[in-house]
Amino acid sequence: MDSSVIKKFALETYGCQMNVADSELVEGILTNLGLEKTANYDEADAIFLNTCAIRENAETKVHSKLGNLHKIKLNKPHLIIGVLGCMAQNLKDDLLKNKPYVDIILGPDSYRKIPDLINRHVKDNKSIVDTKLSRYEVYENLFPSRGDTFNAWVSIMRGCDKFCSFCIVPFTRGRERSRSVESVIEEVKKAVDQGFVEITLLGQNVNSYNFEGKSFSDLLLAVSDINGVKRIRYTSPHPQDINVELLEVMASRKNICNYVHFPMQSGSNEVLKRMNRTYTREHFYDMAMKIREIMPNCGLSTDIIVGFPGETDEQFRETLDLMEAIKFNSAFTFKYSPRPYTKAEQFSDHISEDIKKSRLDEMLILQRKHTLELNQNMVGTFQQVLIEKESKKSNLHWAGRTDSNEWVIIEKNNSNIKDIVPVEISDATGVILHGKEITGA
Ligand code: 5AD
Ligand code: SF4
Repeated sequence: MDSSVIKKFALETYGCQMNVADSELVEGILTNLGLEKTANYDEADAIFLNTCAIRENAETKVHSKLGNLHKIKLNKPHLIIGVLGCMAQNLKDDLLKNKPYVDIILGPDSYRKIPDLINRHVKDNKSIVDTKLSRYEVYENLFPSRGDTFNAWVSIMRGCDKFCSFCIVPFTRGRERSRSVESVIEEVKKAVDQGFVEITLLGQNVNSYNFEGKSFSDLLLAVSDINGVKRIRYTSPHPQDINVELLEVMASRKNICNYVHFPMQSGSNEVLKRMNRTYTREHFYDMAMKIREIMPNCGLSTDIIVGFPGETDEQFRETLDLMEAIKFNSAFTFKYSPRPYTKAEQFSDHISEDIKKSRLDEMLILQRKHTLELNQNMVGTFQQVLIEKESKKSNLHWAGRTDSNEWVIIEKNNSNIKDIVPVEISDATGVILHGKEITGA
């Protein structure tokens, strides 16, 4: 690396936790070379955006950011602008043609090459593209540079083979592949040595994990055995791969959190079929009940798309009806956004923006009601809360999460960040719980 030219870099992350973890990898690679990270664009010699393509509005944000970076570059010609991640994969031709000031375009499987490509660009000042997807790259033996916090993201598999008809991920991130159990364990042990107490196992399809016959349940047990791991979470699973064995493993270990993100997408069998989701509403409902049977206090969250092509009002009501039957603790709800390469984009029966918006509004009202209802049921219960940070609203209070992933605000007392403390829940306001630490217990 020609460090006389590039001394400081900025790196901004858009999108999912997988991108956060990938940015930590890139930061690890660059800081190992002696480069310094900065949040100040004025002093950066290179600015990288790690991008997301899941919905059109994610891309819009990056396009507008790139417009700002272009202005900075006009006064600072040596500035290197890099687009990393899913949009690089998806929009390389568009970027090359319409944004020639973007110097480096790197897909999610090409991060190891970042030092070489910076060098090449510094030498010949030409835009460089590397978006080749790999069947094997899992970034083994690279240790991410993590911020000073309690939770370490650990990527265990990459890519997705499910091809839900709405989703661009199989095209931007390529085929499924898993890391070895040994390398995951080694990384978790290192993270614990560095002081991290919570481990979140990550993958586009985390429970499709399979390495030489070892399943996701096997991996969870192995991580759970590591000394010093206070909490384990994982995201995002596919309902098809949530089975009783996995739930029993979760229930059997104290340090595996009682929380499942369970993406429903729709409650209509016709829509699920056109989405290529491979399960029915009946199966989804039965599994949700199984989760609560095996882990009675399990937190359940979901993802739902409204306005998928052809979704009738009746089919939308079936989704509301299934939400009512299950009652999720929280839901991430999205208006369907047509994505290039996907099957659903080709469907001819797209739904108007107005209808999507009114369905989304109705769904949000229902979800808010469920969240409040479930949170109110927790008032008077005792919860183990892992203190994560200072409350945004008061420096006399901590914010932490229950095992089941609910936020709780408590007074500071003598506790500290990373402590797990017993708390009695005293109040529920919307998505937030308030509680009192039980001292001397
Ligand atoms: N439009 C809207 N939402 C989408 N998601 C994925 N693709 C799309 C799309 N084209 C949502 C799904 C997924 C979450 C990560 O993003 O609900 O679970
Ligand atoms: Fe996308 Fe479906 Fe794969 Fe999730 S499982 S990343 S929604 S294709």
